[in-house]
Amino acid sequence: MATDSLHEQQILILDFGSQYTQNIARRVREAQVFCEIYPSTKSLTAIKAMHPKGIILSGGPASVLEKNAILCDEKLFELGVPILGICYGMQLMTHMLNGEVSLADNREYGRAELKIKEYSHLFSGVKNNSTVWMSHGDFIKKLPAGFKTTAFTDNSPIAAIENPIKKIYGLQFHPEVVHTSEGTKLLDSFIFDICKCVKNWTIDSLAEYAIENIKTQVGSGQVLCGLSGGVDSSVVAMLVHKAIGDRLTCIFVDNGLLRTGEREKVEHTFRDNFNINLDVVDATDRFLNKLKSVSDPEKKRKVIGNTFIEIFEEEAKRLGNFEYLAQGTLYPDVIESVSFKGGPSVVIKSHHNVGGLPEKMRLKLIEPLRELFKDEVRRLGHEIGLPDKMIKRQPFPGPGLAIRVLGGVTKYRLNILREADKIILEEIKEAQLYDKVWQSFAVLLPIKTVGVMGDARTYENVITLRAVTSSDGMTADWAHLPYDLLGRISNRVINEVKGVNRVVYDISSKPPGTIEWE
Ligand code: XMP
Repeated sequence: MATDSLHEQQILILDFGSQYTQNIARRVREAQVFCEIYPSTKSLTAIKAMHPKGIILSGGPASVLEKNAILCDEKLFELGVPILGICYGMQLMTHMLNGEVSLADNREYGRAELKIKEYSHLFSGVKNNSTVWMSHGDFIKKLPAGFKTTAFTDNSPIAAIENPIKKIYGLQFHPEVVHTSEGTKLLDSFIFDICKCVKNWTIDSLAEYAIENIKTQVGSGQVLCGLSGGVDSSVVAMLVHKAIGDRLTCIFVDNGLLRTGEREKVEHTFRDNFNINLDVVDATDRFLNKLKSVSDPEKKRKVIGNTFIEIFEEEAKRLGNFEYLAQGTLYPDVIESVSFKGGPSVVIKSHHNVGGLPEKMRLKLIEPLRELFKDEVRRLGHEIGLPDKMIKRQPFPGPGLAIRVLGGVTKYRLNILREADKIILEEIKEAQLYDKVWQSFAVLLPIKTVGVMGDARTYENVITLRAVTSSDGMTADWAHLPYDLLGRISNRVINEVKGVNRVVYDISSKPPGTIEWE
């Protein structure tokens, strides 16, 4: 069956903490081969049980020369599976196979020119003197037995090594970053020529695979799914519906913190177009009552998260007996929680609003997107027929407009924000910039300022326009929107939205600012 074959030939990536580990996974999957990232501490037995076609050892911030350096099981190199070590990964294999790694006088960081000494399998089709991206402090002083040097740079006499008999390869530079011009070719050589993988991780096979899996997992059970209207939950609902039809029920909670027309859009798409069982709960008053005297951002999130869980639970009980909950967990969420670095980090904003739901309700989880990156989810959504408008939506936070009405949240203030936000989105779309920016929205400030309209003095609200570019929401820059667009937005908001007499533009990047204001 299609279900297993996708994983039968996978590349396994062992993570030693490099900031580029996810890039490696992205590159392998772009080559249409399945791969997963595991912590470097994964046991040899578990690795063997996965029957990987190849193993990639990632880079990492540490030095193998440190006392508590993270190593791997030395028997890994005896498995007979091709191995590619990148940066730390290459130093690690050298160190563990009795070569010698030494501390460099200067860290080598940035671009270098790769000179190929010997065209091995790994370098087949790779241009000589191409640009590579270096980022390391240690270098290899003595090769392990059976290894030879296949490439060098001006600063690194040993920039690539290999033991062709054992199929173990090492690169001092990062083939997975875009600055390494022949990086994709190098990784492709490893994946296809050396590991002998075939391309089968395609979006259509992925949809088929996900649907088959859901069928097997659910059997004749009933599934519940919380639909938010965002990309992830929409794709999950569609996949589950394709797998089990009417045994799926979606719940959409209107918390009164949504943008104009949002609820109607969800009803139209899922109920009318796709005939999915959709239960819409109008809980506006309940949420607004609970938020009445709350102005602290984190408290708002907690109140909204808890109220959502309460309502979801009540609705589920009312609707019948469910054994499963379908959720849109993505791969980056999974790796973050398995990463060996995963120590406690500071909570800037508690984003996981619906955490705790499955445990509380004793539901088994269905997470069909668990292995996917966001762009794969988008392509999958397209493949299974979700409208482009839905797939390309900008992210919208779970607590909705509550964290964009700064301070106290009231119906009146929410309406001002909604109207301003609608104008901003219309203008951004009109300027063909909606897909180019990561997010663009209005924030209502908790202050009033003086203005003049006609001949009269006004004392009204301020709207902030926030528009950012970003690739993952982790870091962001303010979008350099054209002045005339800024002007149009400002004019329209001040003229058309009652209660606003001033518009300002937020020109802070993240860090130090965050994307949302609360
Ligand atoms: P920040 O404001 O932390 O936002 O720079 C990064 C991304 O996360 C979204 N965001 C949230 N999403 N619940 C969510 O589901 C939240 O509480 C939340 N807070 C921020 C934000 O819109 C941006 O895309």
